[in-house]
Amino acid sequence: MYSYLSHLECTGCHRTLPADQPANLCPDCGKVLYARYDLREAAKVFTRALLPGRAPTMWRYHEVLPVRDPDFVNQLGEGFTPLIKASRLGEGLGFSHLYIKEEGVNPTGSFKARGLAAAVFRARELGMTKLGTPSAGNAASAMAAYCAASGMEAHVFLPEATPQANVDECRAYGAKVTFVPGSIAEAGQELRRCAPALGLFDLSTLKEPYRVEGKKTLGYEIAEQLGWKVPDVIVYPTGGGTGLLGIWKAFDEMEEMGWIGPERPRMVAVQASGCAPIVRAFHQGTPTAEAWKDPQTIAAGLRVPSPVGDYLILDILRQSGGTALEVSDDAILACVKEIATAEGIFPCPEGAATLAGLKMLLDQGAVAQDETIVLVNTGSGLKYLDVLTL
Ligand SMILES: Cc1ncc(COP(=O)(O)O)c(C=O)c1O
Repeated sequence: MYSYLSHLECTGCHRTLPADQPANLCPDCGKVLYARYDLREAAKVFTRALLPGRAPTMWRYHEVLPVRDPDFVNQLGEGFTPLIKASRLGEGLGFSHLYIKEEGVNPTGSFKARGLAAAVFRARELGMTKLGTPSAGNAASAMAAYCAASGMEAHVFLPEATPQANVDECRAYGAKVTFVPGSIAEAGQELRRCAPALGLFDLSTLKEPYRVEGKKTLGYEIAEQLGWKVPDVIVYPTGGGTGLLGIWKAFDEMEEMGWIGPERPRMVAVQASGCAPIVRAFHQGTPTAEAWKDPQTIAAGLRVPSPVGDYLILDILRQSGGTALEVSDDAILACVKEIATAEGIFPCPEGAATLAGLKMLLDQGAVAQDETIVLVNTGSGLKYLDVLTL
């Protein structure tokens, strides 16, 4: 079987729903729906030993991805990005096992390719033809590319301050671009206002169940690339937090299939000091995050004032013994330069924020220098040439 997808389950009230019809949030409690798989059956045939013989894309894990019919997978080579040992950077900071998961090499230059490939192909499989999303930029260009590859119509709703490369890409892929004053929150409101008249299915992150499925392949890859060990710490630049949730979900699924044990990394969310709702909530000890007023940062992907999955992110940070940190734009810019100079990787500002966060962990004594640490560089700096002054 290509996919062992079995049903959807609400992360709030645990209601189950059939998987083979379009779904957004839970119709009962309004919380995020997760895709569930028959992992017991999958594990009988889908083993770790199969993987070395498979192509180096995220579709090597297709049994635990939501697309049932491979004919809908109009892939562009997304995923299975390198996990690069950051030796020079590590040496400078005293770390012996520091890695960068280099997502800038994905189609459309960011990790958003993973989530949007899964969600767009699944939407096509479920019969949809017109999709809409609000986006800080990278999700929009990824959705536009996969809609083009699947012969679908893409409508993207972007804050006016979106980095130009994403806007140009969306237009090149034939998407309809609408600019909205404010942040991704206002862009989402505008999408919801326009969607009924335009006949759009809302592909906003976590408001449909499959973007997180694509992003979870980051977790499968990190474990596979470390020889089926999980690292001690994963530092993740958190906007909506979908990637962090996905990585955690992947670890739970792998444990259920007997691929890894119960060990988990400490999950660390890094946000920008001009938009840090999760950091504030984490330190206040609250289960959800209050919306951040007037979000400001050059790291466009971190300009998310009220993440839909706040309760899930906060729970994972606490359960894993991790933390949440905020870093300044100046620190982010310095770290873009530092990663590029030391490693030959030109990171996006969001990715660079993870290094700024790691330095804070080191100062706080919250990491040991012999621990295995993964920084997730979520995209390429080449997409931010108009906002980066180096
Ligand atoms: C480059 C980049 N990094 C990080 C993020 C935040 O992603 P997540 O929603 O998984 O927190 C985004 C989201 O737009 C992004 O574009």
